[in-house]
Amino acid sequence: MKDMQRFIRRGNTEIEHYVPGKSIEEVQAELGLSEIAKMASNENPLGPSPKAVEAMEKELKNVNLYPDAPCTLLIREMSERLSIDQDMITFSNGADNCIRLIGSAFINEGDEILMADPTFFVYTTAARIMGGRPVYISLKKHVHDLKAMQKRIGPRTKLVFVCNPNNPTGSIVRKDELDDFVSELPENAVLVLDEAYNDFVSDEGYPDGLDYIKKGHNVISLRTFSKLYGIAGLRIGYALGQRDFIAALNRVREPFPVSRVAQAAALGALKDEEFREKVLKNNEQGKTYLCEEFEKMALPYVPSYTNFVFVDLKRDSEGISQSLLRKGIVIRPGCLWKCPSFIRVTIGTTEENKKFINALRECIGYGP
Ligand SMILES: Cc1ncc(COP(=O)(O)O)c(C=O)c1O
Repeated sequence: MKDMQRFIRRGNTEIEHYVPGKSIEEVQAELGLSEIAKMASNENPLGPSPKAVEAMEKELKNVNLYPDAPCTLLIREMSERLSIDQDMITFSNGADNCIRLIGSAFINEGDEILMADPTFFVYTTAARIMGGRPVYISLKKHVHDLKAMQKRIGPRTKLVFVCNPNNPTGSIVRKDELDDFVSELPENAVLVLDEAYNDFVSDEGYPDGLDYIKKGHNVISLRTFSKLYGIAGLRIGYALGQRDFIAALNRVREPFPVSRVAQAAALGALKDEEFREKVLKNNEQGKTYLCEEFEKMALPYVPSYTNFVFVDLKRDSEGISQSLLRKGIVIRPGCLWKCPSFIRVTIGTTEENKKFINALRECIGYGP
């Protein structure tokens, strides 16, 4: 038999393939269920912003044309909203892709890439693709241990990922701690603040990554239209950072990473204040309901600043996840993050949350 592996880039086989939460299509095909509550990928349960839909529909007739490569209108809009120069912003097909761009633009073989454990899996993939060496620092009580991360930064450290709020725990690092961390960041390291869930945080102690960028620090902030604005399926996110960093990302960016429809939808969504408020209200109500129910069942959970909750079922959660799946509820089992008794559940609509809680009660044998 021919050795096909010799063609494959060194290190490729060390890359673990990212397996996302099951899609509705997959669950339907596997289990033949018609009604599925997708509470696995932190999407927006209220659908896309209606203004995004309207803008998309208008744009459909133009899809014979390639997209506007730099995303001119969006960059202008965002630059005004955030009071930041246009050359300090770049858009791509999802914050996921921005993470890949950061990997391609920054990581040399052997560079150390520091991150929490557990955190968003995609940082590890981006590091491994480029031959970087992921270095993990355990969370402390489900929160980034910035002091321990600080101590571990060395001459080989190139990137430090801080996911704030953190996925999967939903926890945040606070401004005073992050201020100290940023001010002590050595010159050889760049801090990547993944702020994919920033729109959901109302706490006054939550730091805004943009402040560090405006002060000239080696910081990149990542944001997305997948969560609050409800257009995850279109794939659009962006990075903010120092000019030289953004220029480096643009050099490795695909020629047309953001489709015309996605650009139009994002512009529409930005104008949809009503939808934004509705989503935040639904999220807060849903979070309160779920957490109250967890308390009734004596299930500890991590206080969440996001649109999902990380809850300890105090037993192996893999089987429970399978049972929930058979009832048409998709969540993420904690074994994915080496927390086998936890699950991560996205806050859904009122009906979905109730359906989930009733199903969970049945699965863990906790009566109504
Ligand atoms: C922490 C974090 N960063 C980035 C992303 C990716 O966002 P996008 O949909 O824009 O690629 C996600 C998606 O769930 C996430 O949880």
